[in-house]
Amino acid sequence: MSCYIAVVKNQALVPSDNPYDLPDEVLVGFACYDVASKGMFGAMGVKENYQRQGIGTALLLASLHAMKEEGYAYAVIGWVSSVDFYAHAVGATVIPDSEPGIFRGKLVTL
Ligand SMILES: CC(C)(COP(=O)(O)OP(=O)(O)OC[C@H]1O[C@@H](n2cnc3c(N)ncnc32)[C@H](O)[C@@H]1OP(=O)(O)O)[C@@H](O)C(=O)NCCC(=O)NCCS
Repeated sequence: MSCYIAVVKNQALVPSDNPYDLPDEVLVGFACYDVASKGMFGAMGVKENYQRQGIGTALLLASLHAMKEEGYAYAVIGWVSSVDFYAHAVGATVIPDSEPGIFRGKLVTL
C-alpha cells in the first residue's frame, strides 16, 4: 500500500531553537494505490474547501507516476465519483462491463 498526502503548513509558528518545533501540518488531501488490489489506484479525496485548486490532479499524477516507476504498464481506478475528473486530469476511460467493480459490500464497525 502506498499513499501520497497533501498538507498545508501553519505559517504562524515563531522560530525557536527547539528542533522539534516545526510548523503544524494540516492534511487536506490523500491518494492511495495498491490498497484494495495490486495495480489499482484509489481511494483519493481532497478536503471540500481545498477542492478545485489542482490538489486532486497533483495527487493523482504523483501516484500514477510512482506506479509507472514501480513497473506498472496500466493503472485501474477502482471506483470513481466523477468520471469527468479522471478523464480531464489523465485521459482515463471507462472499462466496458467493469460494473460492479471490486468495491462491493461494506466494512462496518460494531
Ligand atoms: C474528485 C476530487 C478528488 C477532485 O479533487 P480536486 O482537488 O478538486 O481536483 P482538481 O482541482 O485537481 O480538479 C481539476 C479538474 O477536474 C475537474 N473536476 C474536479 N472535480 C470534479 C468533479 N467532482 N466533477 C467533475 N469534474 C471535476 C474539473 O474540470 C477541474 O478543473 P476546474 O477546476 O478547472 O473546473 C475531489 O472532488 C474529492 O475529493 N471528491 C470527494 C471524494 C471522491 O470523490 N474521491 C474520488 C473517488 S475515491
